[in-house]
Amino acid sequence: MDIEAEIRALQLDSAEDNNATLIPEDAKPEEVEMTDKVEEEGMTDEVDTKSQPVQAEPKVKDKEVADMDCAEVPDEMESQKKRHLNVVFIGHVDAGKSTTGGQILFLSGQVDDRTIQKYEKEAKDKSRESWYMAYIMDTNEEERVKGKTVEVGRAQFETETTRFTILDAPGHKSYVPNMISGASQADIGVLVISARKGEFETGYERGGQTREHVQLAKTLGVSKLLVVVNKMDDHTVNWSKERYDEIESKMVPFLRSSGYNVKKDVQFLPISGLVGTNMKTRVDKNICPWWNGPCLFEALDSVEVPVRDPKGPYRMPIIDKFKDMGTVVMGKVESGSICEGDSLLVMPNKAPVKVLAVYCDEDKVRRAGPGENLRVRLSGIEEEDISSGFVLSSVVKPIPTVTEFTAQLQILELLENAIFTAGYKAVLHIHSVVEECEIVELLQQIDPKTKKPMKKKVLFVKNGAVVVCRIQVNSLICVEKFSDFPQLGRFTLRTEGKTIAVGKVTDLPSRSSA
Ligand code: GTP
Ligand code: MG
Repeated sequence: MDIEAEIRALQLDSAEDNNATLIPEDAKPEEVEMTDKVEEEGMTDEVDTKSQPVQAEPKVKDKEVADMDCAEVPDEMESQKKRHLNVVFIGHVDAGKSTTGGQILFLSGQVDDRTIQKYEKEAKDKSRESWYMAYIMDTNEEERVKGKTVEVGRAQFETETTRFTILDAPGHKSYVPNMISGASQADIGVLVISARKGEFETGYERGGQTREHVQLAKTLGVSKLLVVVNKMDDHTVNWSKERYDEIESKMVPFLRSSGYNVKKDVQFLPISGLVGTNMKTRVDKNICPWWNGPCLFEALDSVEVPVRDPKGPYRMPIIDKFKDMGTVVMGKVESGSICEGDSLLVMPNKAPVKVLAVYCDEDKVRRAGPGENLRVRLSGIEEEDISSGFVLSSVVKPIPTVTEFTAQLQILELLENAIFTAGYKAVLHIHSVVEECEIVELLQQIDPKTKKPMKKKVLFVKNGAVVVCRIQVNSLICVEKFSDFPQLGRFTLRTEGKTIAVGKVTDLPSRSSA
């Protein structure tokens, strides 16, 4: 059976329901609603900005809430702050992610004309004339010379209602682990697709990163996608409605089969990232008479923010660390709030630490809630004693640590001639953890039709199978059950640079709690 059809079988989308209905092959978008309870429940209509004009402004610094205990910070003060969203730019190599990200910064007034002229000259000197907008995001020499993003670029911009953190992921297949790290920090994704003749096709092919990125993004908890059909200005496209419709019609069934509710969680729009068309303001009717929908800024502004629990146990997977007047760790808060002076644990070492300072973007803040990307200065621990993948965690309810867990896996595409059986080794990516792992036992195969475990004992499975298995790692790692914390309980398995399976943690050994 087709792998994409099989992906539906994996219940990554529902934390509670392990028996979601399989969608018929020929189901139309109107007829089918993917059950996506976690995300459905996790969404709120905090700000409805659909009909408002969008005005990007230069970044306004968060005001520090001074001289007040965290507990005393009034809620109104929090609610006056703009909402915050982490947006990852994903898609096949050269689709225009960095160009679009750079254009957003330019249009929101963060890059002046002189800098653009400098980049234009530098790009020309490197025989990469058209790459100058991408240089805003691609800041290191290797990226500029090759015209390929390597590290996930980070930038901030604001609209009237929202502070956005842009995470510009690399599209090249060699850098998929970096893309995974970017997507694991994101709330929503902008999937950039090139409409240029031949480019959409290459990205969408098997082995193309359009597919791989979508599947990974869903697994990593990117609940909403804006699909931007880019390069509409290209001479092979010329704002053709037929080309746009062709891409949308091919993408819709694929997105649905990857677990996205196409009606609720996905929005398409045409843009030109290079020229900046249909981005801050809607495209001129003279250029594109058929588009009546929003521009990119409007679409971003109207995306609903996932509900996050500021009172939950604190969980912040650490993605990086450095020394700066103490030990500084970086990461995204997945649950709970943090406050200057808090006592926390660095897990899995159980190292008690004290919070000396909290920085949100560039600004020092007294407290920060879930969804924020932070830098946290700690005392009580040396930088050498922390690795990415560790989790800054509440003392009262620390994150479980394990060397083994049970998981439900969807096998996507194994390497040629490989069989998936006990003893299979892969690289596990779960939140910010990257660890070698081994499948120690296959427990049950799930029948994709009935969703029930099959009776016969399972010794090996092939592409497309859904299987429950035990997975072991060599060192202690922090994980949660998917049903408790979806963001910390979904993962991918990769072998030889290829994503071979996606999964969710279904059970932890009883002794796992710290
Ligand atoms: P990776 O980081 O390597 O995955 O690529 P990317 O998706 O970031 O693409 P990038 O922004 O580097 O752009 C790749 C090429 O496409 C450059 O030559 C861009 O000028 C070109 N490009 C990007 N957007 C557009 C667009 O809207 N129109 C046209 N005509 N070209 C574009
Ligand atoms: Mg790029």
